[in-house]
Amino acid sequence: MACLILGLETSCDETAAAVVSDAGDWLDRLKSNVVYSQINEHQDFGGVVPELAARAHLEFLFPVIRKALHNVAHLHEISAFAATCGPGLIGGLLVGATACKALAVINQKPFIAVNHLAAHAQVCRLTQEVPFPFLLLLVSGGHCQFLEVRGLKEYKLLGATLDDSAGEVFDKIARLLEIDGGGRGIEKMAETGDQRRFAVSSPLKDRNNCDMSFSGMKTAFKILIQEKQPLSQQDKSDFAACLQNSITHTLAEKTKWAIKMAASDVRCSGIFVMAGGVAANKKIREAIQNVCNANAFTLVCPPTQFCTDNAAMVAWLGLEMYKAGASDSISFEQRPRWPLETLSLLQKF
Ligand code: KG4
Ligand code: ZN
Repeated sequence: MACLILGLETSCDETAAAVVSDAGDWLDRLKSNVVYSQINEHQDFGGVVPELAARAHLEFLFPVIRKALHNVAHLHEISAFAATCGPGLIGGLLVGATACKALAVINQKPFIAVNHLAAHAQVCRLTQEVPFPFLLLLVSGGHCQFLEVRGLKEYKLLGATLDDSAGEVFDKIARLLEIDGGGRGIEKMAETGDQRRFAVSSPLKDRNNCDMSFSGMKTAFKILIQEKQPLSQQDKSDFAACLQNSITHTLAEKTKWAIKMAASDVRCSGIFVMAGGVAANKKIREAIQNVCNANAFTLVCPPTQFCTDNAAMVAWLGLEMYKAGASDSISFEQRPRWPLETLSLLQKF
């Protein structure tokens, strides 16, 4: 019998539920994938308000779960229940994990605690065969790091941002430019912009490693934007294009270093995965593709619907963990911080 996993994602401002199975090709395996984005709840505040997010998760989680199960499975047919338990905003994590634990207890099935970053990292294996080890660039709203991925819970950090993540800079500058949709909005606006109009130097370019820094870039753009007020539509497009170009250039340069620094077995595997919300960006994909081509690596990016926060990635990693024997205690604590390099200490399977 095929196994079915219900996955829940509530770590930030997306309330999401999905069901995946282990039978058939990936379109068959993805039974449902429901995401409710809380954009409306937070738009008046210029960012995600943790308390509002937790309340909205509480309000929307059960309708979202019901929708994910509708015409897919009855609760008693679910083999195990998986939820994001960190890293993320503690209120949201509590709502999702507690609901998931309750479902597992009532249905007498295993509960599986999923690390949000690991879910981003491993979702590429839902849609195609990606053997371990592989090199990973995980680039989202909260994280920006290069890792060697050696298994479901074995990660080695090669380098990371020393301050802001690339996604955070996209979001902050989008807000300053009054562009909706964060990085996605910047990408759209950049289509009609001149990416050479404003020059901002690439951070940490003289460091021979794959550490990154984005806070200086953020401040530089902030100052340029303030100096240019009031902004025309063309100014906004040009800023969007220049920002996208600067972030793309930095990620591409540091990818070269990550490839150099990776252990020889990871280099031999020749697989480079880019995941997380920012990996949805087409220009960044193109640039990383060029670096991979020049270094005999194959680039794997999950389809864009699985790059930004979703529950299919949680259900999928839950399924892989379940098949590897995972089952977590319902006293498993939610973690606002939960670095990937520490995963094997907590995940017993
Ligand atoms: O993975 P994700 O959905 O949430 C976190 O775990 O943080 O990533 C969200 C981030 C946001 O900063 C958003 O602006 C960025 O991903 N993002 C993009 C694009 N789509 C989402 N950045 C650039 N281009 C995009 N198309
Ligand atoms: Zn995420």
